[in-house]
This record gives sequence, C-alpha cells and structure tokens, in this order.
Amino acid sequence: MKFLFLSAADKAQAWREAILARFPDAGFDVWPDEIGDKADYDYAIVWRPAAGELRTFPNLKGILSLGAGVDGILVDDALPDNVPVVRLVDRCLTEGMSEYVLYWVIHYHRRLGVYLNWTSQKIWKQMRQTDTRDRKVGFLGLGELGSDAAKKVAALGFDVAGWSRSEKKIEGVTSYHGEDGLTPFLNRTEILIVLLPLTDATRGIINKETLAALPEGASLINCARGPHVVDEDLLAALDSGHINAATLDVFHTEPLPEDHPYWDHPKVTVTPHIASLTVPSSAADWMEENIKLIEAGKPPLNTVDLKKGY
Ligand code: GLV
Repeated sequence: MKFLFLSAADKAQAWREAILARFPDAGFDVWPDEIGDKADYDYAIVWRPAAGELRTFPNLKGILSLGAGVDGILVDDALPDNVPVVRLVDRCLTEGMSEYVLYWVIHYHRRLGVYLNWTSQKIWKQMRQTDTRDRKVGFLGLGELGSDAAKKVAALGFDVAGWSRSEKKIEGVTSYHGEDGLTPFLNRTEILIVLLPLTDATRGIINKETLAALPEGASLINCARGPHVVDEDLLAALDSGHINAATLDVFHTEPLPEDHPYWDHPKVTVTPHIASLTVPSSAADWMEENIKLIEAGKPPLNTVDLKKGY
C-alpha cells in the first residue's frame, strides 16, 4: 500500500510516523519531491491540494482530508471520479474545538476583555454579573464540531440554540433550521459561534443583514472559514457598536495580511487558525479505520457528499 502526502511539508514527518506505525509495510511519499510512478498510490492524505493534481494519480482508492472542512479539496472541480473524499472526524480535533469555543463563550459572558483592559490600567471596578441561564449562546452549524461544543456549553448552564440545514435533536440545545429558522435564531443569540462548512450556501452568511438580526451588543466567534464573513460588514457593525466584539480564527487570506484592519481593531481578537489543530497520532486512528473499510470493499465513514459540499 502506498500513501501520497499532499500538504505542508513541515507536517509530513509526524504523519509519516503515525501512518507507518499503523501500516508498517506501506510507502509514504511527500508531494512533489518524493513522488514516483503516479499509478502506484492508493491513498492521498491532503490539505488544499493544487487543483487538478489528484486526478493525475489514476489508482487512488481514497482521498483522506487532513481537516474537518473539505472546501479546500472541493474547489478542485476535476477531482478523480468515484474516489471517496473522506472528512476528518477526530476526537482530538473535536475536543480542541470545544475548548476554544468554551474559552471564548466564557470570556464574552463574563466580560473578561473589559476587566483585563481595566486591570491593565489599575482600574478597580465591578459590573453586574449575568445569570448563566439567561445568557443566550447560538451555534451556526451543528455538525460534528458544533454539536459537541453546543452540548458542552449547555452543560455549563447556558441557554443554547443551534441552526442547521435540517432539524437536529441534541439534548439541551434548541434547534432552529432551514431558511425560515435563521432570523429567529439570530434574534435570540447574544454570543454567536460559526461552525458551518463553507459551501455556496454559507459563503458570506455573516453579512449586513444577519449581523443586524443579532441583538445589540452581541459577540461573534468564527472558527469555521474566513469567507463565511463579509469583512466590511463586520467591521461596520463593530464600529457602529451594534456588535460588541469578535474573535476570528479564520480569514479570507491566510496568513492574515499585515495591513488588514482586523489586526489593530480594538474589538477584534485574531488567532492564527489554531482553534483546533489536527493531531496526527490521534487522527491516524480514524484513517486506519477508514482504510480498513475501503480495503474490505465497504464505504468509508464520513464520506463527503460532493453535491452538498460537506
Ligand atoms: C481546519 O480548519 C479543519 O478544517 O479541520
């Protein structure tokens, strides 16, 4: 069995070790320098591969995504036919994302940004504390990542809702769905977390209209993809005071360009796409499980629906 690794070269060594620990007889070649006869490769492990490249490997049995979001793979409109694209679902990735979300939900709920700013100026001042049960947190997207984070935020006592394409039944989480459900969901949400896949239907979903539908003083946490947000609309909503603050982990262009207004904006916190990083030693278990299914002639878990885009 032969693996093709098509992602940042500095990540290759950890993946090589994790894969060879599970498939000791396999080959593991890093694109482009180590690639031999393209017909020899069975599985491609990828993150944002160059468009058209995967099609040049004629015998692939599976395309394994290094990320939960597969938009970087699906932009390639010449993907090989009939090769399953498999989305990463991994315990470490999911738990890491929930930690990031919990941290920022608590930050905004307890107004720690304001306190840290005051204490840095030696200002001793207290604000009224809001009952956790009255704090309305909302998740745009209740997939693998959104539902885990929503359950954990709900477990702390917050009033949690989620919006998704179809109705979801998650204990402790009020479900809104479909186009009609979006505005009522936004109207009640004081802390909004974006964890949607990036598709044609969700691109630009955080825009002038949807931001205006949030209550005055709402906060935004985007840990999905940069293009979910119309940057000019978010900046205008922050500057008008309608939106209190935003934590952004993802951007239209990454790394975020040095001259981007987000860097210096007093109401924006930028993190460098670290909300949750893939841990090879754990994610390789999921790959092993899927490869075994494919080798046994069965469909892999979490196969991407190319029409839906996730
Ligand atoms: C990271 O952005 C991922 O899609 O897992």
